Amino acid sequence: MGRYADNPAAIRALFRGNEVHRDVYVDQEIYRLEMRHLFANAWVFVGHESQTPNKGDYFSTQVGDQPVIQVRHSDGEVHVLHNRCPHKGTKIVIDRAGNTGKFFRCPYHAWSFKTDGCLLAIPLKKGYENTGFENSDSKKGMRAVGEVRNYRGFIFCRLAEIGISFEDFFGESLSSIDNMVDRSPAGRLEVAGPPLRYMHHCNWKMLVENQTDTCHPMVAHESSAGTAVKLWEELDMPEGTPLPPAMEIIAPFMSPYEFFENMGIRTWPNGHGHTGVHHSIHSNYSTIPGYMDKMVGAYGEEKAKAILDENRHNTVYFPNIMIKGPIQQLRVFIPLAADKTLVESYIYRLVDGPEQLTARTAMYNRMINAPTSIVGHDDLEMYERAQEGLQSDGMEWVNIQRLYEEDEDFSEEKVENGTTERQMRNQFDAWVKFMTCDMDDVREAAE
Ligand code: FES
Ligand SMILES: [Fe+2]
Repeated sequence: MGRYADNPAAIRALFRGNEVHRDVYVDQEIYRLEMRHLFANAWVFVGHESQTPNKGDYFSTQVGDQPVIQVRHSDGEVHVLHNRCPHKGTKIVIDRAGNTGKFFRCPYHAWSFKTDGCLLAIPLKKGYENTGFENSDSKKGMRAVGEVRNYRGFIFCRLAEIGISFEDFFGESLSSIDNMVDRSPAGRLEVAGPPLRYMHHCNWKMLVENQTDTCHPMVAHESSAGTAVKLWEELDMPEGTPLPPAMEIIAPFMSPYEFFENMGIRTWPNGHGHTGVHHSIHSNYSTIPGYMDKMVGAYGEEKAKAILDENRHNTVYFPNIMIKGPIQQLRVFIPLAADKTLVESYIYRLVDGPEQLTARTAMYNRMINAPTSIVGHDDLEMYERAQEGLQSDGMEWVNIQRLYEEDEDFSEEKVENGTTERQMRNQFDAWVKFMTCDMDDVREAAE
């Protein structure tokens, strides 16, 4: 055990309100504690229900560093199980996705389990008679995670058996999921194909922080977005020429500081927040023919307009995802080590919406988030340089002070200037809270 385990005071000392200690990004013990405490006590996104539409469909992923299986049980509900055999620990599924039929079967000794995890059968069962097996944990079958919630198709879980409720954890922040789903005339989303996967040799929190870092696009993306804008301008097209679709996506990254200041950032308790309160880089996309008519047909004019007028840019659901409602996208940040993070970028289809929208989302994903993108690797370069720079012993603290106010209170929703780093501080406030909540319980119980 290192100096941080079971030491809530040492964890708290890593966040000073406007600065954070470099250990939160580079220390492998902190990473392990994040998995054991933060990712276990918070509600973490698992997958979308459309990834497991039929009974027996499963999808395997990780919650923190825990291998889990999202599976559609015979009663139609989505369950989340630990991907581990209760016999000798073998991972039950190794495929990313598939259909297991009515039960899972362990490949080692053929114990089998219903799709809610209950033990179904063991070969040569008589070998366990009079052994006390009936009272063992193994008899209970594959273990389910603490709690699961399907919110409008988005599957979240809390690994810990007890803890904060789903409603208390997310509160008003669910409005961003609502808006993304409401953009479908049918009120439903579907994942459109497998995600783009992109390995980052940096800490997972650098990615999460960058989702609301509005002072970097015009700098870090100048070589890509700036070049594209320059080339377009050199073409000297007649006034009013519509931007080609790719330019429509990339040009707003070069917007001036004022644009980002005015867009606004909203923060919610427990580390959630979003950019683009008043407008965003998605505000001026061209309209897709027929879409508004469908929306008006589904919701009436007033509500349809209200749904589409919302242009939230990046909404962070702390700790592990970001969604973009107006361009139907979700990114999952999967922490693999203190300096290694896998990012999966999914595109979503609006059920009953125009396919042209899905095509635009796919183009956005390829241009901005793919390993072959022209924007995502600018960010990657910055994260990896930061990860390297933090090895320097020249300074120990990282500054997140822009528009800081003393004694900030994160227990209330707040809207501020879009260049504030308040959302990063909000995340660290939640980070401390969930890193220490069960350590505190242990201490209290011991006292
Ligand atoms: S390890 Fe799974 S059945 Fe033995
Ligand atoms: Fe960026």
